[in-house]
Amino acid sequence: MSASTNITWHDSEVTKEQRQERNGHKSVVIWFTGLSGSGKSTISVALEKALFEQKITSYRLDGDNIRHGLNQNLGFSPEDRKENIRRIGEVGKLMVDAGVVTMTAFISPYKEDRDIVRNILEDGEFIEVFTKCSLDECESRDPKGLYKKARSGEIKEFTGINAPYEEPSNPEIVIDTEHESIEESVNKIVSYLKENQYL
Ligand code: PPS
Repeated sequence: MSASTNITWHDSEVTKEQRQERNGHKSVVIWFTGLSGSGKSTISVALEKALFEQKITSYRLDGDNIRHGLNQNLGFSPEDRKENIRRIGEVGKLMVDAGVVTMTAFISPYKEDRDIVRNILEDGEFIEVFTKCSLDECESRDPKGLYKKARSGEIKEFTGINAPYEEPSNPEIVIDTEHESIEESVNKIVSYLKENQYL
């Protein structure tokens, strides 16, 4: 798979554990997954603000934003989505090494692709957050008008309409964005982080 040869890993003289100790908290990837319009970006933006206010070193990676730069050469075929998620998983791993609480907001529709990310991280470094919201509700929210375009055939391979979304079978956290407020969802995640000694 790797195209690189003659490469050598250089160890750092500063460890992940030392960075975490200096920051006063663990580093982890908080991986939001869910349909378009389910609330991944909204909740992760609110969570990022809440963590920042608590002086937690944190950063958010968001599907739409990352596709403007790092992943601008990728579309929405299953292969491109896989590569999208693989790259974000690797970025997440680097950010965890850097001592950062990292939030990622990608549809990440394939269970296998999410599990690959879980497996490149160490135990406890991947928290899967399922932003649960029915397709009906996402479609009625349609904040970017994309469901309408997908229904009219203007967008091919749109998740939930003509491309699959595989729900997580055992996520660490479920956020029910149809019935919880943004504040309740954020509090649920912050409580999980505190109860499990991340913060
Ligand atoms: S994926 O499946 O994880 O690779 O997708 P992601 O990188 O999160 O990008 C999803 C955002 O891209 C817009 N968009 C589409 N989504 C799904 N399917 C198709 N065909 C598509 N085309 C464009 C859309 O704005 C998604 O953002 P969210 O925030 O999920 O609505």
